[in-house]
Amino acid sequence: MRAIEISAPGGPDVLRLVERHRPRPGPGEVLIRVTAAGVNRPDIFQRQGRYPPPPGVTDIPGLEVSGRVVEIGPAAEPLPAGGAAREGGATRYLPGIERDGVHPEATWTPALGDHVCALVSGGGYAEYCVAPALQCLPVPDGLTDIEAASLPETYFTVWSNVFDRARLQPGESILVQGGASGIGVAAIQFATAFGCRVFATAGTAEKCAVCERLGAERAIDYRREDFTAVVRERTAGRGVDVILDMVGGDYLPRETAALAEDGRLVLINAMGGAKATLDLLEVMIKRLTITGSTLRARPVAVKAAIARALHDHIWPLLETGAIRPVVDRVFPLEQAAQAHAVMERGEHVGKIVLQVA
Ligand SMILES: NC(=O)c1ccc[n+]([C@@H]2O[C@H](COP(=O)([O-])OP(=O)(O)OC[C@H]3O[C@@H](n4cnc5c(N)ncnc54)[C@H](OP(=O)(O)O)[C@@H]3O)[C@@H](O)[C@H]2O)c1
Repeated sequence: MRAIEISAPGGPDVLRLVERHRPRPGPGEVLIRVTAAGVNRPDIFQRQGRYPPPPGVTDIPGLEVSGRVVEIGPAAEPLPAGGAAREGGATRYLPGIERDGVHPEATWTPALGDHVCALVSGGGYAEYCVAPALQCLPVPDGLTDIEAASLPETYFTVWSNVFDRARLQPGESILVQGGASGIGVAAIQFATAFGCRVFATAGTAEKCAVCERLGAERAIDYRREDFTAVVRERTAGRGVDVILDMVGGDYLPRETAALAEDGRLVLINAMGGAKATLDLLEVMIKRLTITGSTLRARPVAVKAAIARALHDHIWPLLETGAIRPVVDRVFPLEQAAQAHAVMERGEHVGKIVLQVA
């Protein structure tokens, strides 16, 4: 099969189109004939040698795909009940729909020939890709394969961090840093759909306008404005309940200042620096929670629980059009290097997708 490999750590031009053996699905996995593969910022970190695949995972980049199921692997051992809850509560739901533990028997699982999108730990930039069956979701009605391939990595990440870890509730408020990113456009739309007040930051006036069209009541140009001052002013000094952040570094003290009492800060990266100085008295006085997570290394049981939550709560909103994919541009598989270059220059809004077939 045709695939993209990282020939050496480096810039976009280290991505090479090569021939590789077609992978075989193991227990609990399916083989997908890939139509499209999403591009994500973590793929760039992997290409640069800063985010190696977990042990046992292919070196081919790509964390999400869409396509048809062409082979089903042998049956898997049942997942441990309650595994996700033990691993950190990936099964918290919105009020009235709380669940506990993992119920793999009730999770949607794909059959031969099904049209799916899937979260994978690697291998998406290829004509065939294996995925755990429990990490597959049906392509939502009305969406193209290109649009469906743009969903899994950001949707799983936003759900598990904003709703599971940071426990955002309807009626609360959230600040989404990087609102025009693939992650940001999903977070703004999810929070808006669940009746939250949304603020977002972005680096240009055009990107701010997109954030507001997606539902943010006020987007803040982080190069020209102080997000702490804007958020505090718009909330009559109270601050927001949740902040989703991928910048870290010197944003941390500004974020704790922008949080309300009992506020939650959830980190999904530290692009501005992994070390921060915090006012611990402010953390105590305001009873703040600072948390975060990375998705790729988490077990299938956790990802299965997130898939089920997305299927229950987000897929219906995709099918009515209340939430929609935001695909900025599409490149053929062999132009993966150009796709990475566009992402690194920050020219995109939302997602970049590779057309594989
Ligand atoms: N923890 C996890 O499991 C997980 C999973 C997926 C992704 N992530 C992380 O989430 C982030 C977004 O991923 P993506 O694929 O959506 O990438 P992306 O589309 O390339 O987005 C990167 C974003 O960072 C924003 N940004 C950079 N500096 C900023 C600053 N000082 N203040 C506010 N925003 C700033 C950019 O804003 P402008 O373009 O407006 O300047 C851009 O929107 C990445 O850091 C990625 O590593 C984490």
